[in-house]
Amino acid sequence: MKVLICTDTNAAIDRAAHLMTDRLRDKPKSVFGLATGSTMEPLYDRWIAIAGDEGLSFARARTFNLDEYVGLPASHPQSYHHYMERFFFDRIDIDRANAHLPNGAAPDPAAEAKAYEGRIANAGGIDLQLIGIGRNGHIGFNEPTSSLTSRTRLKTLTRSTLEANAAHFPPGETPPRYVITMGIGTILESRACLLLATGAGKAEAVERMIEGAVSAACPASALQFHPSATIVLDPEAASCL
Ligand code: GLP
Repeated sequence: MKVLICTDTNAAIDRAAHLMTDRLRDKPKSVFGLATGSTMEPLYDRWIAIAGDEGLSFARARTFNLDEYVGLPASHPQSYHHYMERFFFDRIDIDRANAHLPNGAAPDPAAEAKAYEGRIANAGGIDLQLIGIGRNGHIGFNEPTSSLTSRTRLKTLTRSTLEANAAHFPPGETPPRYVITMGIGTILESRACLLLATGAGKAEAVERMIEGAVSAACPASALQFHPSATIVLDPEAASCL
C-alpha cells in the first residue's frame, strides 16, 4: 500500500484527481471503476477541471461503478445512477453506452449482479478502481463480515450504513436495505486502485484498513493484499495513524 498524507483536504482531492487524470492521459481507453458518496463529489469536479485544462477526452473511456441500491430506478434522485449523471457523466464527453452501473431496478437483482461481473470481465477488467471508505470500514457496499473473495452480488446494508446514508435521502425516506455491489474479490482484481478518504469521521476506519489485521471485520483491510493500492488521505482522515 502506498499511503499519501496530503497537507489539507483540497490537496488530497487534487492529488487523487491528478492520479485519475494521469491514467486517462496515458491510456484514453482505460476502464475506470468509479465510486459515489460525498467524498467523491469534489474529486469529480477536480478531475473534470484538470482533464479539461489538458484537453483530454473521456470519449474512449469505459466505467463501472462499484454499487447501486436495489429497487431505485435510474431516475430516482438518490440512486447512484442519478448521482453519476449529476456529478460526472453529464459534464464529460463519455459515450453513455460505456458508462455502467448495476441496474438496481432489474427484476432479478441476483442475476443482474452476476451479469454485471460478466460485463466487467468482457471489458478486460478494471484498470484503475476509485474507492471510498465507510465509517465501519466498508468498501463499495461490502459491509463487515463480507467474504474477502466475494464477487458482485446482492447485499443487505448494516444499520450503521443505513443511518449514515439516510442523510442523503429526504426526511422520512429511508435508503433501501438491499444493494448490488462489486465484491471484495472483484475489487482486488483491478489492476490498480485508489482509495480517497477525507475527514475525521474516517480516521478509525483508515487506521484499521492500514494498520489493522487483514480481516472481514474491516473489508477495506483487504486492500493490504492489493499489489498496486494507493491511499490518499487528508490530515484528519490520517489522524489515528
Ligand atoms: C456509500 C458508498 C461507498 C462510499 C461510502 C462513503 O456507502 N457505497 O462506496 O465509500 O458511502 O461515503 P461518503 O464519502 O459519503 O462518506
